[in-house]
Amino acid sequence: MLELRNLSYEVAEESQEKEIISHVDLRVDDGRFVVITGPNGGGKSTLARLIAGIAAPSGGSILLDGEDITALSITERAKRGIGYAFQQPVRFKGIEVYDLIRIATGNRRLTIEDACAYLSEVGLCAREYIHREVNASLSGGELKRIEIATVLSRGSRLAVFDEPEAGIDLWSFQNLIRVFEHLRERNSGGSIIVISHQERILSIADEIIVLADGHIQRQGPRNEILPTLLGTAAATPDCRAAREAMGE
Ligand SMILES: Nc1ncnc2c1ncn2[C@@H]1O[C@H](COP(=O)(O)OP(=O)(O)O)[C@@H](O)[C@H]1O
Ligand SMILES: [Mg+2]
Repeated sequence: MLELRNLSYEVAEESQEKEIISHVDLRVDDGRFVVITGPNGGGKSTLARLIAGIAAPSGGSILLDGEDITALSITERAKRGIGYAFQQPVRFKGIEVYDLIRIATGNRRLTIEDACAYLSEVGLCAREYIHREVNASLSGGELKRIEIATVLSRGSRLAVFDEPEAGIDLWSFQNLIRVFEHLRERNSGGSIIVISHQERILSIADEIIVLADGHIQRQGPRNEILPTLLGTAAATPDCRAAREAMGE
């Protein structure tokens, strides 16, 4: 179980403190598929970075299975099973896709076949990609899928995906949904947090959280929250884009 207690994140802006995340309390139970949505600039990516340990909160605490992990590094959190996929993935010059997956699994002897299985799952033809360098020659969408594959390969206790749909418009949304469904099946004790604006991702959530201005505005089971979102500014443009991409 993940718990955020009174979590805040402030930045100094023109000699003033600006609160990006403001006194957030949240509990994510094991086995739950939680989608965080809300307007751009609402603090979603910041919250994901705080959970992964990329940013340190200015107040409050983060607990995983009752253990206070607020002061732990990214690596220490990763060892406890927190996996994180960036909204904008990082490129690693000189490292092959195969290396990235081996590092993620912590198994240097992972076979090419096993590594390839994760790439296939995200719709990449594994043989073409496994020995590619993770550099600027990969498109944003390819990089994003490779990153999703590394989080999958980690078999995380808690997997956090920041806008996994970004840049993968040519890849069918149905595949992305299937990836999350497989992850949920495989990882029944773990929890999944996805930041997304996509109606199709929201519609497979157990729970939906709406984050706006650094506050949790609404939270609850999908069937309570989703109807309140449809047709609002936060949901509409992306949903329309998704439908168009699917040729509807
Ligand atoms: N380190 C920072 N310094 C200044 N402003 C920041 C910093 N990190 C985030 N912000 C601001 O915080 C707000 C929330 O950003 P973000 O978490 O990326 O929102 P979202 O992912 O919901 O679009 C934005 O206005 C962003 O510009
Ligand atoms: Mg974001």
